[in-house]
Amino acid sequence: MDKIWINGGKPLKGDVTVSGAKNAALPILAATLLGQGEHRIVNIPQLMDVSTIKRLLNHLGAVISDEGGARGWTVRMPALAHADAPYELVKTMRASVLVLGPLAARFGEARVSLPGGCAIGARPINLHLMGLEKMGAEVTIEHGYVRVKAKRLRGARIYLDLPSVTGTENLMMAATLAEGVTVIENAAREPEVADLAQFLIRCGARITGAGTDVVTIEGVSSLDGSGTHRIMPDRIEAGTYLAAAAITGGEIFVRGCHPRHLDAVLLKLREIGVEIDEESEGVRATAGGPIGAVDIKTLPYPGFPTDMQAQMMALMSLSNGLSVMNETVFENRFTHVAELKRMGADIQIQGNNAMIKGVRRLSGAPVMASDLRASASLVLAGLAAEGETEISRVYHLDRGYERIEEKFSSLGGEITRIKQMP
Ligand code: EPZ
Repeated sequence: MDKIWINGGKPLKGDVTVSGAKNAALPILAATLLGQGEHRIVNIPQLMDVSTIKRLLNHLGAVISDEGGARGWTVRMPALAHADAPYELVKTMRASVLVLGPLAARFGEARVSLPGGCAIGARPINLHLMGLEKMGAEVTIEHGYVRVKAKRLRGARIYLDLPSVTGTENLMMAATLAEGVTVIENAAREPEVADLAQFLIRCGARITGAGTDVVTIEGVSSLDGSGTHRIMPDRIEAGTYLAAAAITGGEIFVRGCHPRHLDAVLLKLREIGVEIDEESEGVRATAGGPIGAVDIKTLPYPGFPTDMQAQMMALMSLSNGLSVMNETVFENRFTHVAELKRMGADIQIQGNNAMIKGVRRLSGAPVMASDLRASASLVLAGLAAEGETEISRVYHLDRGYERIEEKFSSLGGEITRIKQMP
């Protein structure tokens, strides 16, 4: 397993370009199962999770040509080769559950290994299954798999107890080919949901309200190819680089991100004293002064994103006061705390609150990544810390960050990947 080595303490300066959003690419690639024509998707990030869903789509019968770069992928799904998403694929990527809705809608059946929990929580999919049952699917769970069968899904009114992102996406995809109208209430409002809706509408779906808490889908008999769709920029990657400018006291222009996707993050960065300039091509963060303390509560969009919680906690570890981080979305998303404390952070956890007392400096140390965003938090801490940091299990990072060590090196960071023989 590769490691990442960092020698910290240098302010990062320069431009970095954001890649396509992982959490838009995954549902959109799953949605290619619905259409009978050819899709062209560009700005797909080169990530482990994208490779995983490519293997899964090929297994299911999709024909994919990855032309790379600006030409992206063309995808066709002429016929179903297999109706199952096997455990060995799903266990490495929970988002595999996103093929449930499209397979049930277009082919009338799907069998997907139940995604286990992960480091940040149990990650149930009860809301996905409740919605499919309301649409007339027969849902059974056997031998660790969930099987969904339906002659043809029927439109339904579905209320989500929690605004689940992939739950909203799965049900929106399923509803595109259902008979009648589906209304999803308390839907997730994340920009990635809206990007998926745009893709589906290009394929001929009839969707209104995506990006709001009520999404209405009028089912059609079939969907076609999408033409060319460009994946939206990754707002969490963008936020991570803005936080890197803040924690190292540098200046970074993050090219290609949409400020409106990051309002809560930009607000908090400004609150702690970072100068944020929203320019036509992206957002610039300029730091260098003291980092102020700040209280943050993670919430579904448009609230502060839980996927930026760990990165902000690294930043708050170097503030000039006491900050409180309240994680309300996942039940166990503080796995980075123990590792940050090994680098000298002063953090106390009480339930889903973390009290972070700023310290003058962090010191480099060997640390271990545990989940995608916790790993990003350790990279930020390492870039700010005095001395050397070595991060193991960086495969977590590779799931969600494209060429992270190259991008940080280009910003003046002393960071390299140590290849480990398998
Ligand atoms: C999506 O996960 C993202 N993943 C996550 O990003 C992100 O952290 C999360 O949304 C919240 O924004 C993708 O889009 C691929 P949820 P998802 O369903 O859809 C509970 C990353 O770092 N819940 O919105 O799985 C659940 O336990 C990843 O890129 C149910 O109880 O999250 C959680 O507490 C990590 N039953 C809350 O809802 C359900 O059926 C929000 O989960 C579904 C969810």
